[in-house]
Amino acid sequence: MSAPALSVILDGDPGLDDAVAWLLALASPELDVLAVTTVHGNVPLNLTTRNAGVVLALAKSTVPYHAGADRPLLRAGLTAASVHGDTGLPAGGLSESTRPPAPEHAVQTLISVVRARPGEVTVIATGPLTNVALAFRLAPELPGLLREVVWMGGSTAQGNRTPAAEFNALADPHAARIVFESGVPLRMVGLNVTMQCIATPERVQALRDLGNRAGAVSAELLTFYAGVYREKYGLSGGALHDPLAVAAVIWPELLTWAEMDVQVEVQDGANVGRTTCDLYGVTHRAANARVAVGVDDPAFFARLLERIATLP
Ligand code: RIB
Ligand code: CA
Repeated sequence: MSAPALSVILDGDPGLDDAVAWLLALASPELDVLAVTTVHGNVPLNLTTRNAGVVLALAKSTVPYHAGADRPLLRAGLTAASVHGDTGLPAGGLSESTRPPAPEHAVQTLISVVRARPGEVTVIATGPLTNVALAFRLAPELPGLLREVVWMGGSTAQGNRTPAAEFNALADPHAARIVFESGVPLRMVGLNVTMQCIATPERVQALRDLGNRAGAVSAELLTFYAGVYREKYGLSGGALHDPLAVAAVIWPELLTWAEMDVQVEVQDGANVGRTTCDLYGVTHRAANARVAVGVDDPAFFARLLERIATLP
């Protein structure tokens, strides 16, 4: 007898790895995707929202999608078009969604869905945490009503957008600090594990060989991504950041977790956006997150491939 599906909200900034992550989520019977909420990030909100509709259409999903915050709480906006292309979804032949975004603002949807299902909803956040932070400010009881927040963001070590900061954290460090200080059950899937999960040419070819549209589009997106990662990091492919955050919800046993205090730097300067992780407990501060510190990358990709194969 399988466990009941987990109620989840997918919040992100598609973005090509968000797109692959959402395809994984939509293809997984362990998850009941109640809503998709979009946020500024890799590309501006109008494009992350358009892209959300495109990804849902690709998966032939009728899950509602809602536009959220178009800018960070305080800092100037940041994008990553150099990594994700100007549209945020660099693949040909993608059909526009025939469904417009739902009229309710993403933050209101986060609040109403969680209030209606106390203790049941997991938010899988794969972009800046602006929507989640705003929801916590509008509804202070929300951290106590959520099952958990699982966030692709931060790092126990090196950043990617700056030497100190990972993009999602840097794009809205104030939002990230609000979430880390909220007391919500929180898991962080940072660069320290996601950069071990590379879409190598062999893996891209395996997606292409699936013979379905979802595999072909994923392969095309990751091929674009590979060029950036080869040039920027000398890696053979792009890191599967966001898909690993979804996998962490479906198969948490694929990662190794450690509870620790994580502080988000909000002061302007070289370290703004840094997630300072107290790996060794030297501050004696209570843990505010469970942080991924290891990953079984081969098993992760095998399961990702298996699930993408089930899509149209
Ligand atoms: O640093 C990687 C993260 O930033 C990923 O979520 C990617 O989509 C971008 O949002
Ligand atoms: Ca993302």
